[in-house]
Formats: sequence, structure tokens, C-alpha cells
Amino acid sequence: MMIPWLLLVSLFGKSTQDGNGQESGVLHCGAQNLKLTGSDQMILLTWEDTPSCSAVQDVLIYELEVLIADKKEHYDEVAVAPDQIGSTHSWNWTSYLALECASHSVRLRSRYKNHTSQWKQETRPGHETSKAQVYPKDKLFQVGSTATFCCVLPAGEVFGKMSLPEYSSADMNTTRISNQTYALTVHLNQASKYSCTDVKCELIPDVVYGACAYIGYPPNVMDLQCETRDLQSVDCYWTDKDSSLPSKNITEYHLLGSPKICAKWPETRCSQEVRVDARVRNWTLTASNPLGEVKLSDTADLTERVHMFPPEGVTVLSVNARNVSLDWKWTVQQYYNLSLICQVNIINHGENTISEHFGVGLNFAVLNDLIPNWTYNVGIRCRTAQHFWKWSSWSTNVNFHTKGDVPDALDVWMQVMDNQIITIWKMPLANQSHGHIEDYEVTWTKTTQRERQNRTKVAPNNYSLVLSLDTTVGHIVTVTARNINGSSSPSTITIPSSNPDGTKVNTSSIIGSNGSFNLSWSASPTASCGYIVDWCPTLGNCTVEWLKVPPNQTNASIFSKNFKDGLRYTLSVYACTRGAPVLLQRREGYVREKNNPEATSLTARNLKNGSYIFTVKARTAVGECGATSITATLNLLTDNLIGTVFIFLAAVFGLLSLITIVCYRHWTCIKETVYPPIPKPVLTSTGEHGCRHFQVDQCHYSEADITDVPELYCRAGAPINGFVSQENMPFVFSQTPKGYYNQPLKKFTPPPLTLPSTAIPSQPGLPSSPFRREFPNASYNLIMQPGNQQSNFCPELQEATSLERSSDGYQPHDHTETFTTNQTEEDPDSPMSCVSTYILLPQSSSR
Ligand SMILES: *[C@@H]1O[C@H](CO)[C@@H](O)[C@H](O)[C@H]1NC(C)=O
Ligand SMILES: *[C@@H]1O[C@H](CO)[C@@H](O)[C@H](O)[C@H]1NC(C)=O
Ligand SMILES: *[C@@H]1O[C@H](CO)[C@@H](O)[C@H](O)[C@H]1NC(C)=O
Ligand SMILES: *[C@@H]1O[C@H](CO)[C@@H](O)[C@H](O)[C@H]1NC(C)=O
Ligand SMILES: *[C@@H]1O[C@H](CO)[C@@H](O)[C@H](O)[C@H]1NC(C)=O
Ligand SMILES: *[C@@H]1O[C@H](CO)[C@@H](O)[C@H](O)[C@H]1NC(C)=O
Ligand SMILES: *[C@@H]1O[C@H](CO)[C@@H](O)[C@H](O)[C@H]1NC(C)=O
Ligand SMILES: *[C@@H]1O[C@H](CO)[C@@H](O)[C@H](O)[C@H]1NC(C)=O
Ligand SMILES: *[C@@H]1O[C@H](CO)[C@@H](O)[C@H](O)[C@H]1NC(C)=O
Ligand SMILES: *[C@@H]1O[C@H](CO)[C@@H](O)[C@H](O)[C@H]1NC(C)=O
Ligand SMILES: *[C@@H]1O[C@H](CO)[C@@H](O)[C@H](O)[C@H]1NC(C)=O
Ligand SMILES: *[C@@H]1O[C@H](CO)[C@@H](O)[C@H](O)[C@H]1NC(C)=O
Repeated sequence: MMIPWLLLVSLFGKSTQDGNGQESGVLHCGAQNLKLTGSDQMILLTWEDTPSCSAVQDVLIYELEVLIADKKEHYDEVAVAPDQIGSTHSWNWTSYLALECASHSVRLRSRYKNHTSQWKQETRPGHETSKAQVYPKDKLFQVGSTATFCCVLPAGEVFGKMSLPEYSSADMNTTRISNQTYALTVHLNQASKYSCTDVKCELIPDVVYGACAYIGYPPNVMDLQCETRDLQSVDCYWTDKDSSLPSKNITEYHLLGSPKICAKWPETRCSQEVRVDARVRNWTLTASNPLGEVKLSDTADLTERVHMFPPEGVTVLSVNARNVSLDWKWTVQQYYNLSLICQVNIINHGENTISEHFGVGLNFAVLNDLIPNWTYNVGIRCRTAQHFWKWSSWSTNVNFHTKGDVPDALDVWMQVMDNQIITIWKMPLANQSHGHIEDYEVTWTKTTQRERQNRTKVAPNNYSLVLSLDTTVGHIVTVTARNINGSSSPSTITIPSSNPDGTKVNTSSIIGSNGSFNLSWSASPTASCGYIVDWCPTLGNCTVEWLKVPPNQTNASIFSKNFKDGLRYTLSVYACTRGAPVLLQRREGYVREKNNPEATSLTARNLKNGSYIFTVKARTAVGECGATSITATLNLLTDNLIGTVFIFLAAVFGLLSLITIVCYRHWTCIKETVYPPIPKPVLTSTGEHGCRHFQVDQCHYSEADITDVPELYCRAGAPINGFVSQENMPFVFSQTPKGYYNQPLKKFTPPPLTLPSTAIPSQPGLPSSPFRREFPNASYNLIMQPGNQQSNFCPELQEATSLERSSDGYQPHDHTETFTTNQTEEDPDSPMSCVSTYILLPQSSSR
């Protein structure tokens, strides 16, 4: 019982009894050999227990106080278990300030059962400087953290302010630590834009001191992907953003936990030798910088992640006209054991075709269906056939030129005109001729006598042959092209006999759109080898163009660079058969109409005295037709005119009298011929359609229906009294009261007039009849309006020296005459206008 008591006496130096009877005393057990060290912002205290502490049988507490610049900043307790008594104790604390900023002191005492020892203190002084300093210097901070910088001034210097120029003052607080030390607390919310962020301390007067702070990010690795290229190592790729740290503290990457640095930022791929086997593994990347460390894994079986190197040494082994063989090498021997797919990219004048090839260790390919005598450029890439991961990059490209061959068969068509057969073929393109064309050979024979062949050669720059043959019998024409390699296979076309009552097809109209015709037709069972669409202008020179259409297609978009706006085209659809092509349908129309069809008047101004013939032609539904002319005499000299008028009147009167007599004599005959008598005089064309006639002359397309005919009107001064006309009359005199100011001077009452038959065209459906017309009562009152209108002759105005005079007598004032027509032929956009004094007669004409 003595030993514990003795121990207790040694533990407590003296025991006193206070007034309340409470026991208190100074504890002898305490700390010794205190050592205060530190770096950056951390202080480290080590101490030992005094020997008297060995009596302690319970937990001994050490109380610690931290003072910064003599100001109490932190309190802590360290509990020492009885078995730890006697060992060296250590304690650390991280200050909010760098240790250089101010003195850091630690006070330490022990406590045991309400007894405490004396305080013991260790001090680590701040940095004494002869010039102002900012701490910490060159320290790394993470974006988002809060940091405190201090400015230590030598005695006598006066503090101004502390700041980070890139930050706003709202993010900063400045505090005074001591007379010579100030602290700035900043919330670091931006990474250093340049190498570092300045921290400034300004003194009064204006002197600035500073330190550098590196504000950046811990690693931020994403999208890790690992693969193998040579089947002997793993290659990993990832992304990582810039940590904004100085290069000496940049992010380092380690693969598979290896201590060896695999890569350093900004490198975001690295490779490491591994045994590649068919096993799923975690491919782990560790990224670390002073602000943090990140681990990322990609789980994969590398045999399913083969990213091949491109083929090397691609060579063209054998070059033929239409095929070549290529071979190449693999730099990785293991590839020869892999089942591969390779693509050959065949570049031909900018167009790409890709062919695919399969095989184990594939190192060759045969390319077929090439164009003879043609330059190609090829590149190859490959991948493993199973477990598609990635294509290799393309090999370097190689060029080759295929050998020449005979030309391709020609695209041949025909055109029959009168007694001529025009065989026409398309110029073989460079990819069809396979070498320079030396000539064409055309052979032809009657379908009835095939054994008797005639043949001729055609120069290489000619693409048609005109043969004057008996078109009432069918012919077979064959064309071949020849180059240095030989003759093409023959292209044969059967030209049908031109049967006068042969099949007729209806012609319907077609409207072009966007500069082309969209044509469709119903399928024909006879079209065993497809369809041929041909087209050419309805009128004028006709060099036929054509398009061949496969049998399963019954529509075509027809476009030609030769298409002209405002020109009428005839399109024909033929069935391609074993024999002659069979015409299926015919269409006519404009690619783009230029046709103001509403225009019915033209005015010619500023004409000189004289006689003019005005010819007006219409582009009707089937083409140009119905040319109508009038003759007008412009004579401002009234005397001359009156004389002329009288002569003309006399002539007409005489002629009419003669005709009346003749008609009277042969009235019975006439009546028999024209029975029943025509109730009203009809002014129309005779016989054939004018248009048709016209067309046959111009072009072999003669089947067209006629839909429209132009009518040429002249406007005169006053309403015609008793004028006999019919609505469909092709040539009508009419008046428009509007715009005429003159007075009727004379009335002309000619006898019934019968004009000779002419080819004036008629409206379709209108019965043909002799051109017969009466002018019982007509009066023309012409006006000339003064004016200095500009001359605007339409090109159709032709000056005529011959002059036909009307019997109309008048005394002109100023006149404006208006020709009312359907349209002009040549220049439908420009109105024809003239100021004239004229006398007119119907002028029948056709072209
Ligand atoms: C600081 O103390 C902690 C425990 O409080 C300890 O884990 C750490 O290792 C100590 N640091 C140093 C440098 O002693
Ligand atoms: C220690 O002192 C506190 C008051 O200071 C008292 O409440 C407590 O009972 C004492 N404990 C012992 C073991 O004396
Ligand atoms: C701090 O400054 C005050 C007045 O500015 C002065 O009274 C005091 O003695 C100074 N303290 C020290 C430690 O220099
Ligand atoms: C600055 O002080 C104000 C008020 O004491 C406080 O609200 C703010 O968070 C402080 N800013 C920083 C960056 O410490
Ligand atoms: C930054 O890099 C330098 C040089 O390698 C090194 O001395 C320093 O300790 C590094 N900083 C940190 C915070 O790791
Ligand atoms: C990969 O790692 C994950 C977790 O890190 C673990 O669950 C998984 O089993 C690992 N897979 C393999 C194939 O090692
Ligand atoms: C390649 O072309 C040549 C000559 O044109 C021919 O004899 C050969 O059969 C062709 N080879 C292949 C694989 O098509
Ligand atoms: C390829 O496969 C053959 C037979 O499977 C084997 O003998 C050879 O070693 C393999 N070569 C390589 C490079 O893997
Ligand atoms: C191949 O075409 C070129 C023109 O591109 C020609 O000069 C050459 O003679 C042709 N070669 C053969 C073999 O046809
Ligand atoms: C071939 O030419 C001969 C003589 O020029 C001519 O009599 C014969 O009709 C021609 N045959 C054919 C099919 O044109
Ligand atoms: C028609 O063609 C001939 C010769 O090809 C040419 O001389 C004439 O000018 C052409 N006519 C028209 C209207 O194009
Ligand atoms: C016609 O047939 C060919 C090949 O048979 C095909 O490629 C094409 O698409 C077909 N066209 C239509 C319009 O059916």
C-alpha cells in the first residue's frame, strides 16, 4: 500500500487544501525535449514525457495552444495512453499562414485527474526581412480553394494594399496580423491564365512587391480507350484538360500501376509492352499532379481491339485491260495469321469506288471491271474480319494505267427524212473508246436481202452517215468503231420501211420544267430491250438527240445542253424491239415558253413614207405556222395617196366585176360544188392545214395536230358598218373605238369580193372552204397622232417596194395604227409598233 502513495507524491509536487476542501496541485509529470519544426504552413511539435510520468496509470492528456504573432489561434489535446508513456510524441498543425509570415508558438502542458503541469512554450519566429516579402511563394493551389497570402514589411515601411490583379476585390479580404504583417484571403476561382497568378503587395509610397501563385486543376482524365496495334503491346488513348500547372509540376500518367512514367501531359496516349491474349482485363491509367491523382480503367480483350497498321509496299503486279492484281506486305508478322478484310479505294478521275476483299493474312487483291486504257489511283486499308474495331489508315496510293482494248459498242440511233436514212451515233467518250478511234465502219443491208451488204468507212470526227436509200423497204444498219486494238462489237439498228399509212400516234403537248422535260409513258410489252426517247426542234434544222431507257423504266427526264427557251421540241418515245423501233407516242412542247400569247397588238412607229409588208407568224401549239402578211403604205402626202387609192379602187372594182361575171356564168357549177350553199360568207383557208403543209416542208415530223392559228388584225379608225365577218375568220379587220379621234370621211361599199384560194391556215376543225369574202360596207378611218415616239421596229417589218393600194379613201389627220396580232415570231418580247398611214388588203401567205 506504500508504493502507490509514494508514486502519487512524486506525481504531484505539493498538495494543498483550498477553502472548499478541494484538492489541487502542480503536476510533475509533463513534457520535455520539445522541438518545434515546420515547413510551408505546417508546424510539427515533438516532445517526450518526463520520467515522473511513468507513475501514470490512466490516460494522460497534453493540452496544446498555438499562438500566431502572440495571438491565440488554435487549441488541441493529445491523449497519451499508459502504454505510450515514455515514447516520443508528435503533433502537427497546418496554419492558414505561411510560417514566414509571423511567429508561430506552441504552448504545451499535461493534465492528469484535474492536475495540470506548468505551460512549456516553443516559438518559431517569422521571417525577418530587410525588404518587403509576400508569402507563400510559388505555391500550387487548386481552383476553388481559399488561400491566404501575407505581406511582411521591414520596420518603418508603410503598408498600402494587397491584391491579385486578375481578381475582383469582392473575392478578397485583407487583415492586419501585426504592426508589420498583413494578410490577404482570396477565394481562388480562376486557373492561372499565364504561367502564374501575381500576388501583389503595394507599399506607401508606391513600391510593389509580389509572389507567384500557380492556380490549377487536379487531373481530369476521361474517355480512356485501349487497343493493340502490333499484338505485342497495349496502346491507350484518353483526354485530359490542361491543369494550368507549371511544366515542372505537369500531370504524369502511369499505365497498369507501373512506376515508369508512361506519358506526361499534353501527351494523351501511351504504349506499354504486354502479352496480348484473349482475356478481358482492366487497363488502368493513373494520372497525377501535385493537386491530385485519378485512376481510370478500360475493360477489354485486346484481341478484339486490333487496330492494324496500314499495308506497306503496295505494288501493282499484273496490269491487263480490265483487271489488275495488287499485293502488299505486313510489317507485323502476326497479321499474316489474322482473318482480314481489306478495302481498295479505286480513284478514277475524282470518283471513288471501293471494293472489299477477304482472307487470312490477306496481302493481295484483284481488281476487276476496270476501264481499259485508263489511269487509276488506289489505296488500301484493312481490319480484322472478326470483332470489328477500327480500320487501319489508308496505305500510300499507287497509280496504274490499264492496257488498251477495242472500243465499247456504239450508241446508235436513226432518223428518216424523205428518202434519206441518217444513222447517227454518239461520240465515244474517253472511257468508251479505250484508245484513239481510227474510223467508224457502217454496213447496211435491206431487211429483205440480208446477204447483200454495202459498207463504208466514216472519218473519226464524224458521228453520222446520211444514206439515200429506198425508204419504202426496211434496212439494217450496223456501226462499229475501230481503234488500234481492233473493232468494237457491232451496234445494229433496224430502220423500218416508211409505210405511208403506217402507225400514227397522237401527239400531245408537254410542258418543260426547270429547263428539261419530264416524260413518262405507259409500259409497252413490245419494249423487250427498253425504250428510246428522241427529240429535236419541231421546226428548223433537226439533229436528233436521244436517250435509251432500260425496260423497267417508263419515265425519263430529258435534258440537253442544246435546249433553247422558246423553241418547240418534238419528243418521241419508241419501244426497243428485236426488230425496228416502234413509235409509241409523241409529245411537243417548250422547255420554257417565251410566248406572250395574250399579246394581240403591236405598233410600229416612226416609219418613213412607203409601202410595208407586215408578216406575223404564230408559234402555235404545234410550232410556227400561219404566217400572215399585210401590206401597208405609209404616205403622208395626201395627193399621192388619193391618186393611188383611186388606181387601186379601179383595179379592185375591175377584178371584182370580172369575178362576178365569171361566177354568174358558172353559178350552177359553183352551186353544185358548194352545196348546201354557205349561209354566210366564210373567210378561211383552203384544203390542207397550213401548219401541216408548212411542217412537212421543214421536218419529217408531219403528224402534228394544229391547234392555233394567228390572226392578223388591223385596227382602223371607226367601226365598220355592215362588216361581214365570222369569228373564226383567220383574217379579220376590226376596229377599236378607243384612242381614235378622227371622223369618217368616206364610205366605201365594195361589191362582193371573192379572193383566190390561198393557204391561209385555219383553226382546227374548221371546214376548209374556198376563200370567199364580202366587204359589203367597210370604212377605215385612220388617225395619225403626233408624237416623237422612239423607233422600235420589230425585226419582222420588211420594207416592200411593191405596193398594194386599198380602195379606201380617206383624209388622214394624225394617226396611230395598231396591228392586232396573235404574236410575232422572232422577237415576241418586243412589241412591234409603228406610226403609219396605211391601206391594207388581206395578204395570204404561208411559208
Ligand atoms: C500530421 O498529423 C496527422 C495526424 O494528425 C498524421 O497523419 C500526419 O502524418 C502528420 N504529418 C506529419 C508530416 O507528421
Ligand atoms: C475535477 O474538477 C471538476 C471541477 O473543476 C470537478 O467537477 C470534478 O469532480 C473533479 N474531478 C476529480 C476527479 O477531482
Ligand atoms: C505597434 O504600433 C503601435 C502604434 O501604431 C505601437 O504603439 C506599438 O508599440 C507597436 N507594436 C510593436 C510591437 O511594435
Ligand atoms: C471577406 O469577409 C467577408 C465578411 O467578413 C466574408 O463574407 C467573405 O466571405 C470574406 N471573403 C473571403 C474571400 O474570405
Ligand atoms: C513542382 O515541381 C518542382 C520541380 O520538380 C518540385 O520541386 C516541387 O515540389 C513541385 N511542387 C509540388 C507541389 O509538387
Ligand atoms: C476491373 O475493375 C473493376 C473495379 O475496378 C472490377 O470490379 C472488375 O472485376 C475488374 N475486372 C477485371 C476483369 O479485372
Ligand atoms: C484479267 O484480264 C485478262 C486479260 O484481259 C484475262 O485473261 C483474265 O482472265 C482476267 N482475269 C480475271 C481474274 O478476270
Ligand atoms: C501463325 O499461325 C501458325 C499456325 O497456327 C503458327 O505456327 C505461327 O507461329 C503463327 N505465326 C505468328 C506470327 O503468330
Ligand atoms: C490510250 O489513250 C491515250 C489517250 O488517252 C492514247 O494516246 C493511247 O494511245 C491509248 N493507248 C492504247 C493502248 O490504246
Ligand atoms: C449497195 O450498193 C449498190 C451499188 O451502189 C446498190 O445497187 C445497192 O442497192 C446497194 N445496196 C443497199 C442495200 O443499199
Ligand atoms: C441548218 O443547217 C445547215 C447546215 O447544217 C446550216 O447551214 C443552216 O444555217 C442551218 N439553218 C438553221 C436555221 O440553223
Ligand atoms: C431497273 O432495274 C435495274 C437493274 O435490274 C435496277 O437497278 C433499277 O433500280 C430498276 N429501275 C427501276 C426504276 O425499277
